[in-house]
Amino acid sequence: MISFNVPPFTGSEEKYIKQAIDSHKICGDGEFTKKCNLWLEQRFNCSKALLTTSGTTALDMAALLCDLKPGDEVILPSFTFSSTATAFVLAGARLVFVDIRPDTMNIDEKKIEQAITGKTRVIAVVHYAGVACEMDKILDIAERYGLKVVEDAAQGVMSTYKGRALGTIGDFGCYSFHETKNYSMGEGGAVIINDPAYVERAEILREKGTNRSKFFRGQVDKYTWVDFGDSYLPSELNAAYLWAQLEVADEINAERLRIWDTYNTAFEGLEKAGKINRPFIPEDCIHNAHMYYIKTKDLQERTAFIDFMKANGIMCVFHYVPLHSAPAGYKYGRFDGKDEYTTKASERLVRLPMYYGLTKEDQAKVISKVMEFYGNH
Ligand SMILES: Cc1ncc(COP(=O)(O)O)c(C=O)c1O
Repeated sequence: MISFNVPPFTGSEEKYIKQAIDSHKICGDGEFTKKCNLWLEQRFNCSKALLTTSGTTALDMAALLCDLKPGDEVILPSFTFSSTATAFVLAGARLVFVDIRPDTMNIDEKKIEQAITGKTRVIAVVHYAGVACEMDKILDIAERYGLKVVEDAAQGVMSTYKGRALGTIGDFGCYSFHETKNYSMGEGGAVIINDPAYVERAEILREKGTNRSKFFRGQVDKYTWVDFGDSYLPSELNAAYLWAQLEVADEINAERLRIWDTYNTAFEGLEKAGKINRPFIPEDCIHNAHMYYIKTKDLQERTAFIDFMKANGIMCVFHYVPLHSAPAGYKYGRFDGKDEYTTKASERLVRLPMYYGLTKEDQAKVISKVMEFYGNH
């Protein structure tokens, strides 16, 4: 069976995990966490990067940093993972779902303004498949209405928009290092703080409400409980695994892009023949080959496609069921305007095997079976 995903592995992971064990430092914020945080800050040029236990808890932190009051509203796409939504529900907000653009599957920037009410406080964008949302337009709306922007860049590590790293453009950015992501630590993530004014609050929030980070930097002589908080620090063992990948991030990125380009070239003819749609990458975006998807004619064809590929030993998967049509979506939010594309486009999307280490032979098999399905040998 050709898997849909295999977690990234570079070969240095065991060495670094052993180093963490030997140093008798396996709790959070040791040397490997510091190295990862610094790498993210330097590479992506942001005020502060803090590893978290998941992309979900990075979003939880970002939502809490937005300082929402019960009844405040957050605008977000419905085509996303539950984590984007739960973070804001936990922070007390109501969700207002906005339609996506069918080309990138990202929130439609042209439909955001009409969803704004007197209660709107945040626009939470999701850079689907590591392809950026139209950030200039979104930042302009946020500025005019005094809203915060949270970037769910769970899939967007190493992608850019007009030269700026995804996650570093809004007020807060959130990365995921789950095993399905380009760079992984099993379960893990990072929150990116772009406004230095929020760094201290973020450190306190992440460290059980204490000013322990300040204490470790020698800025206070004892640490104490200063505000509400939680524990969002991953273990050094996980950070050591991630470090083995950040060290060779360019190599992983280049290899993923090669795989992505191979798919994209192979399926050009199918798109020209009107049989499928391929991903669309806007001019200002450099993506990270997080995912390769095609769009089938409709839901029925997608189901037949997934079944055909599975029968041929290839795992292909669909993605999010739109949140506004899920039980919790009804409970915590509403869809603003008309669902023109969210449901229709998401029902057509299917993801092909895509991971660091996918062999040329396996990829050739995937491609040939896609061609066979569409009767185009
Ligand atoms: C868009 C998006 N947001 C958030 C998450 C949550 O990340 P994690 O699994 O690290 O909690 C994911 C994970 O798949 C995601 O795709």
